[in-house]
Amino acid sequence: MKGIILHGGAGTRLRPLTYSGPKQLIPVANKPVSQYVLEDLRSCGIKDIAIVLGETFPELVKEHYGNGEKFGVRITYIYQGKPLGIAHAVSLCRDFVGDSEFIVYLGDNILQHGIKAHFERFLSEGYDAMVLLKEVEDPTRFGVAQFDAKRRLIRLVEKPKEPPSNYALVGVYFLKPVIFDAIKDLKPSWRGELEITDALQMLIERGFNVGYDFVKGWWFDTGKKDDILTVNARILDERITGCIKGALENSRVEGRVEIGEGTRVINSLIRGPSIIGEKCTIRNSYIGPYTSIGNGTSVVDSSIEYSVVMENVSISGVDGLDECLIGRCARIVKAEGNRKAVKLHLSDYSEVIL
Ligand code: TTP
Repeated sequence: MKGIILHGGAGTRLRPLTYSGPKQLIPVANKPVSQYVLEDLRSCGIKDIAIVLGETFPELVKEHYGNGEKFGVRITYIYQGKPLGIAHAVSLCRDFVGDSEFIVYLGDNILQHGIKAHFERFLSEGYDAMVLLKEVEDPTRFGVAQFDAKRRLIRLVEKPKEPPSNYALVGVYFLKPVIFDAIKDLKPSWRGELEITDALQMLIERGFNVGYDFVKGWWFDTGKKDDILTVNARILDERITGCIKGALENSRVEGRVEIGEGTRVINSLIRGPSIIGEKCTIRNSYIGPYTSIGNGTSVVDSSIEYSVVMENVSISGVDGLDECLIGRCARIVKAEGNRKAVKLHLSDYSEVIL
């Protein structure tokens, strides 16, 4: 069994962060989203993993994962470039896959309970392909499943105007090499992409045994800011145990909080669940629940909650930051002198809500 992590895509909904890196490297609880994916594949015993790279700073992905040794896996990089569709990305992995069964996992998806139970089901049922489904309120944004009276999967349709059910396709596909024959016969969809949904539909039409399994617990694709903040909060809630390596000086910690080595917390209150990375300075500040602060960041005379702050950010003299997603090396400081002034230096597609 082999694993494929899709690390391409345009990430337009996450601009401006995706001007300086792929969205799958955005951290939740101080760990890139795609690392949760890699660890989920590894938990199934999968050690042979291909990462499909897009055109947004693919070198950053290689820098983070290297040859995989640090993560206990072997990584092969496959370059897709332009996002011509998930099925296109999969088609590039033909040689990597060989005769093996394999799992395609979108690098921005996170499942609360991971894929292990589904993986075991795929192995035991002998399906030619298996998809994961989750009931959602608005299926029109997803690939959607249609069943017959006997609950057999009879159709998969991408972003339907009139959805045949409320069951959306989750971004994890359990496949056999027969999918490559279907992809070869695909035509680009109205949005110009080779759709994996269409390839799976073709397998159903050709009489292959396409199974499904329902996802229990939460599932998110972290394609938008609000999803990242939600997943960050859930992961902090469920996985932060509380471990303080840094120094607390005249400060208080409430609830489960992780504080990295070399970090100083001075005259401050930190409320968990939260994580503060290494070599940070937190002074005269309040860090509220559901907040992740990346390495090397400083927060002085400020308050922030329910946010993701990446590495080497500087925040000073700013009260009431809430629901923020702040990229690397950003600087948010109170104006000197005229304290009512708001002076901005923002990149394209930034968003400021005052
Ligand atoms: P999407 O979120 O559908 O696409 P996107 O990354 O282009 O985002 P946006 O709509 O904001 O522009 O992609 C789903 C996942 O699949 C994501 O992890 C990126 C990956 N992907 C590829 O690796 N190659 C592709 O050709 C496409 C379309 C997606």
